[in-house]
Amino acid sequence: YLPDVLTIFVVGASGDLAKKKTYPSLFDLHRHGFLISDKTIICGYARSPKSDEDFRDQLMPYLKDGTEEEKKEFLDLCIYRKGAYDSTDDVASVFEELKEKEAELGEGGKVNRLFYFAIPPTVFVPIGKSIKEAVIDRAGESVGWSRLIVEKPFGKDSESFQELSSDMKALYSEDYIYRIDHYLGKEMVQNLLILRFSNAIFEPLWNRNHVKSVTITFKENFGTKGRGGYFDSYGIIRDVIQNHLLQVMSLVAMEPPVKVTGEGSANYIRDEKVKVLNCIDPVKLEDCVLGQYLAAPDGSEVAYTEDDTVPDDSVTPTFATIVLWIKNPRWDGVPFIIKAGKALNERKADIRVQFKNAPGSGNLFDGQTITENELVMRLQPDEAVYIKTNVKKPGLATKPIMSELDLSYKERYDVELFDAYTRLILEVIRGRQATFVRDDELKASWDIFTPLLHQIDDGKVNPILYEYGSRGPPESDQLTERVGYHYHGGNYTWEKNETI
Ligand code: BG6
Repeated sequence: YLPDVLTIFVVGASGDLAKKKTYPSLFDLHRHGFLISDKTIICGYARSPKSDEDFRDQLMPYLKDGTEEEKKEFLDLCIYRKGAYDSTDDVASVFEELKEKEAELGEGGKVNRLFYFAIPPTVFVPIGKSIKEAVIDRAGESVGWSRLIVEKPFGKDSESFQELSSDMKALYSEDYIYRIDHYLGKEMVQNLLILRFSNAIFEPLWNRNHVKSVTITFKENFGTKGRGGYFDSYGIIRDVIQNHLLQVMSLVAMEPPVKVTGEGSANYIRDEKVKVLNCIDPVKLEDCVLGQYLAAPDGSEVAYTEDDTVPDDSVTPTFATIVLWIKNPRWDGVPFIIKAGKALNERKADIRVQFKNAPGSGNLFDGQTITENELVMRLQPDEAVYIKTNVKKPGLATKPIMSELDLSYKERYDVELFDAYTRLILEVIRGRQATFVRDDELKASWDIFTPLLHQIDDGKVNPILYEYGSRGPPESDQLTERVGYHYHGGNYTWEKNETI
């Protein structure tokens, strides 16, 4: 048995994404035995000239967790070649060399090729074309599979997405393309389908009869941190809502797929995701609150517009709360609230399903406060699933209090939870497309946000200013309350010494 040779070709190898995410994840896979040293070639490709040694020195500080020996063994596999993105000849000449190496390592066996596009979308098509002509079209019989990983942003609205998508489709069919949305690689997001569909206790309640609202929250306690230039032409909706949070939401809301795992599941899952996205109307202005952060009150952090790369009069939102309505029999009338912001009071991402009150509970408990149950899946930090539950206050009184059934991963499981990118690259090597975004999903998600984004781009909406480090504009709480989310306050600790 001859294991296949794997060539990983990282386009844009000297950029930020490659250094911070792609290579550290490849290193993770290597030190856990998923990339075999004498069967793997990792070739970085970009425009700037650089020796292998210089390139390795640049990667070194980004490799975490492993021993020095493991780092060295990995870096020895990494080579770097310079070339233009729009030059078939440049790519072909690099591959002349790589083919020799492949033949040497392969000893007559198969070769698989993974192309990782860690580049801005403006060069997707030129490099896609060069690779197609220089490598894919000339692949001989020894080549097994060829796969392409691409990264957001996939356009800026419905129209630009369609253009990019049809240009890419002219070169590659959908089977080749793995569109990364790294939220789909997070442990708790991958957990969603198991939690929903393998437990008898959730699915029967997972509908408009029992669910009052669903909230998906993304908060960061830092600003745009020198990425203002990129961020300003995108804004929070394009940066995290249209992609990451809508992907999470589609997994929460979709109907059960024919299969969750195994043969055919990738398309079965994505068919259901796209179906639910197609039931969402475009967002209306009245269902959204936009914000932009000011400086921290103590002067320790500057306002968004004080970032040198951001125009002083920018109205780009750094915060948004958006209510989406799914017009299907399961969810009609249930608000799906997506809340995302930079420079807030904490870093946290979670999914909160708030259930309706237990029927008749007001009367049964003589008007005492009964809070709604909530199922919370915390994606980060500290992965957890917990259910807010009413129990009797321990002691002599018959008083309901809010408590929680808590599964905190750190306490329950002593395992390393891999970075989302590490899992996703492994899924590509395994040829599993379920955790990658299909183009019809993207079309549906751009259609939901495009009218609103155009209104924002045309300067028709002024964001509400909020202080760095705050919870965001209070108008956001007013909106969520208006659509039916009942906020109980973040804190529900039990005071032992309270009088009974
Ligand atoms: C990226 C966004 O896609 O996701 C960033 O461009 C954001 O602005 C990041 O900070 C959040 O990812 P994570 O995994 O840190 O929650």
